[in-house]
Amino acid sequence: VISGAAAVGIGAGLDRVLSNSERSAAAGAVAEPAVPFYGEHQAGIVTPPQSFLSFAAFDLTTSSRRRLRDLLSRWTAASEAITAGREYAPASGQVPADPGEAADIAPARLTVTFGFGPTLFAGLGLAQRRPAALEPLPRFAGDMLETWHSGGDLCVQACADDPQVTFHAIHMLSMAAQSAVQLRWLQHGFRGGPSPAREAGSSRNLLGFKDGTNNIQPTDHGALSRFVWVTEPGWMRGGTYLISRRIQILFSTWDDRRLREQERAIGRRKRSGAPLGARRERDRVDLHATDTHGDPVIPIDAHVRVASSQNNDGQRILRRGYHFSSGATPGPIDRGGHMINAGLFFIAFARDPTRQLIPLLRRVTTRDALTTFTLHTASAVFAIPGGVERGSFVGEELFS
Ligand code: HEM
Repeated sequence: VISGAAAVGIGAGLDRVLSNSERSAAAGAVAEPAVPFYGEHQAGIVTPPQSFLSFAAFDLTTSSRRRLRDLLSRWTAASEAITAGREYAPASGQVPADPGEAADIAPARLTVTFGFGPTLFAGLGLAQRRPAALEPLPRFAGDMLETWHSGGDLCVQACADDPQVTFHAIHMLSMAAQSAVQLRWLQHGFRGGPSPAREAGSSRNLLGFKDGTNNIQPTDHGALSRFVWVTEPGWMRGGTYLISRRIQILFSTWDDRRLREQERAIGRRKRSGAPLGARRERDRVDLHATDTHGDPVIPIDAHVRVASSQNNDGQRILRRGYHFSSGATPGPIDRGGHMINAGLFFIAFARDPTRQLIPLLRRVTTRDALTTFTLHTASAVFAIPGGVERGSFVGEELFS
């Protein structure tokens, strides 16, 4: 690892090998490395999105509640240490508990967020404690799900401004699990931007459009309590639910569409992000506007119309997804060759997925122009317990 001072000396030529934290250090940016682990809500939900994600799902290998409690207690201690930039070093053991690959670069605004999948409750004889809102997701139209990449008893979402820091978090927590769980799937992701997104504004997605414009803002406490934070059952107070969908973008279909058609599929201008018929990104999305022929300015199947809260019973969600890109995948049969295997690892938070996300996903997977250009290949839902107090561990109240 090259030090910040050395980085300044080397200059822009080696920019690509420098981590984000080094880049900020080199640029003399104000250090803002640590996000508090303890609080009313888990971090990583309304935290302004960091640049990188490593998201893991695990399956329990035990039916012992005590072993799960011990695991959650170790995971809490380990996460508290690494999010504060300390090494995880429990007293016992000859083998290092911390593999060490983030030693000089952490914490880079690391957050670690834990969740429980619907299958966890059955496996522990806790079926009656499974919240009604935590239903396994149904299949949606066009789903091409890879089951090995879907579901899971537990999830760990690690986000940071350095990809090695998120990798390390998952690596270390897997080691700390001491075989009480096994890894089910792992997804890495990234978000672009001129600088790490410090504000939850919009950033470009892999279709080239601004994304996040009409999202719930982290400072909008009214919307957060209405649409995101859970109050019941008691052990979930201050928590929420997370839905993930791995959505591959079919670039072979999208890339040769005319700009006008791309913009009509989204319902917004590509460059400015303005809604069709408006001038600026933040202008109101007017779903009633018609053109001189009486046709809707924002087409009937435009993504922003289909996903709008106005067509979803007033329901909103908090989106916090990341792009993924992993190698190449075979292209269309008639063209042969390969295409980029990339897309959106959609993550959304809501206080009741059965009312907010399942109906929305039904619409987005049937009536939306984006169905031509996307393929949903993985799916999962998790209950995200409320925040952790010092001296306690994540999800502790589930066991009380
Ligand atoms: C590859 C898949 C997807 C892409 C590229 C995409 C892209 C976008 C873009 C560019 C916008 C407009 C800017 C904004 O307001 O953020 C948007 C809005 C939105 N998207 Fe998506 N999206 C995808 C999948 C989904 C899915 C699966 C859902 C829901 C289950 C969803 C829900 C929403 C919502 C609720 C809005 C705000 C609509 C409004 O009220 O104006 N998106 N999306």
